[in-house]
Amino acid sequence: MRVALYPGSFDPVTNGHLNIVERGVAAFDRVIVGVAHNVRKQPLFTPEERVDMLRQAIGDEPRVEVVAFRGLLIDYAVKRQATVILRGLRAVSDFEYEFQMAHMNRRLAPEVDTVFMMTGEEHFYVSSNLVREVARFGGDVSAFVPSHVKTMLQGKFKS
Ligand code: PNS
Repeated sequence: MRVALYPGSFDPVTNGHLNIVERGVAAFDRVIVGVAHNVRKQPLFTPEERVDMLRQAIGDEPRVEVVAFRGLLIDYAVKRQATVILRGLRAVSDFEYEFQMAHMNRRLAPEVDTVFMMTGEEHFYVSSNLVREVARFGGDVSAFVPSHVKTMLQGKFKS
């Protein structure tokens, strides 16, 4: 049983993230989508909101679990018996951060490998940061996020 943990902030989930989930399910037996309480960022959505929006976007897929986690990613991966940490790679700018995290995680638990999937070319410029910014100033984000996420973004920024 090959279990992959796909971690992220998902603030909010984008179509690029969903593309990685879909391809993760094709490559592994189970995918755990782990929503981090990321200490480095002040998120727009609560962990519960992010879990809900992911669950709604993924729908009824028995091989995918969406869950929030606290603390170190690698500890959570070991606890959940995931042998792979799955990450999407977009542009070159992602590489340094991803490279550092992958090596740090491997030092902490060599039995867990990090696997990168190249984000589909139609999504490679889409990031949660940009989506939040476009939505904040009233831009149309329909091409980048599922419709319920667009509605949730509008709800956050309507005031
Ligand atoms: O979607 P993001 O913000 O790029 O995801 C980053 C994430 C959540 C994978 C990373 O910040 C993380 O692993 N956070 C949990 C805390 C942790 O383990 N930090 C050390 C990473 S080597």
